[in-house]
Amino acid sequence: MEDADIGLVGLGTMGSNLALNMAEKGFRVAVYNRTTSATEAFVAQAGDLADNLIACETYEDLASAIKAPRAVVLMVPAGKIVDKVSADLSAHLSDGDMIVDAGNANFRDTNRRAGEADKIKVMGIGVSGGAEGARHGPSIMAGGAPEAWTRMKPILTAIAADYDGVPCADFFGPEGAGHFVKAVHNGIEYADMQIIAEAYGLMRDGLGMAAGDIGGVFARWNNGALASYLTGISGEVASATDPDTGAAMLDVILDKAGQKGTGRWTAIEAQHLAAPVTVIEAAVAARNMSALIDVRGEGEALFGGAPNPVGLSLEQIEGALIAGKILCYTQGFDMLARASTAFEWDMPLPAIAEVWREGCIIRSDMLNDMARALREAPDMLLMFDGYFAKLLTDSLPHLRAVAESSIVHGHPAPALTAALGYFDTMRRARGTANMIQGQRDFFGEHGFERLDRDGKDFHGPWASNS
Ligand code: 6PG
Repeated sequence: MEDADIGLVGLGTMGSNLALNMAEKGFRVAVYNRTTSATEAFVAQAGDLADNLIACETYEDLASAIKAPRAVVLMVPAGKIVDKVSADLSAHLSDGDMIVDAGNANFRDTNRRAGEADKIKVMGIGVSGGAEGARHGPSIMAGGAPEAWTRMKPILTAIAADYDGVPCADFFGPEGAGHFVKAVHNGIEYADMQIIAEAYGLMRDGLGMAAGDIGGVFARWNNGALASYLTGISGEVASATDPDTGAAMLDVILDKAGQKGTGRWTAIEAQHLAAPVTVIEAAVAARNMSALIDVRGEGEALFGGAPNPVGLSLEQIEGALIAGKILCYTQGFDMLARASTAFEWDMPLPAIAEVWREGCIIRSDMLNDMARALREAPDMLLMFDGYFAKLLTDSLPHLRAVAESSIVHGHPAPALTAALGYFDTMRRARGTANMIQGQRDFFGEHGFERLDRDGKDFHGPWASNS
């Protein structure tokens, strides 16, 4: 029975929802999970969609259930498991068949796998939107051989989220390009979440607001420039009540954030690319510091921790978030541009912004304007676009007030203050690296360029003096 359009390995939350999504769009999906009972239970609970699902007990069954040339989506944990499953599965695949890794792989692993692939083609797709997205329309960032995209495009665009009739699935370049874009998405996700958390902290500790009231503020902001999935869910999270205690849910959640690694990879890769993503870096560091809960307790016992009230308005905090968001996305798209050049990927930045408009965790109204700005001037920093420059100019005084207040009154706001530091650096033609160059030349004769002459290897008077 070789009539499945596609195979899928890994029936965890994301895999099973993706399989149901494909089945609902009319594709026949052969599914396999390491535990056969889970595969059988999944198909048994699929209702009407079970007609489009074929439960397979072995990789051999899976391979024989799919039409050739076969495509098999892997939704298994990133890392060694992908290599193991790929190797075991490949033994049953043939020339021209394709493995599509839909997990949150490190793009370097995807590059390696694509390089090692011989008869089997390898494609890496970033899938965003959590369980709900996987089931009803995720945002899909694809990478691999162009022929692989051509083959997968009908399925991936059919299952993807839809923005005004445009599917949120696109192809961004060879090998690990799709997983790279997903990592940057997650870096931005970390940064967006962190600046929201900092705004929450200012309202809670600086303005003395209760969680429920903060929830209402986020809900209101979700109707303005900050309209986005993350603003919306932050409102819902803040407004929720713990059914066990009746307390605000936020007040009973431990302030220690988990992380699976994608945000960290973004910060690491940014360093390789010399891409200034200071807001993302601050967000990753903040997650790391959140884990140091005992040390923070010792710090509070020693130095005193309670920050002072702030005299900020909610409008100022909202403005700070608007500015922070523009600056963070400016950094993210700049990183993508640098990667595209460094890896010769020729990545279409406007198409990336378009794919992020719906389905993914960072979806927001602003992304549509970002797509327009990047389409008009793909090589320009996003914050230099007329619309965003105006929005930034209007909201910058608020970011400055919030940063100042945080610093003066002892509220940690590392990502928002990083955004301001980036802005002030990037709008300053004459910076201070002349001092760095002087120091480098002093201790290492590294040479410097001069403002008043051509040439690259000048030295200071200290050279001849030493
Ligand atoms: C998405 C998310 C998702 C991510 C989780 C958890 O786009 O749907 O980015 O892929 O895995 O949000 O990530 P962390 O554990 O690193 O916070």
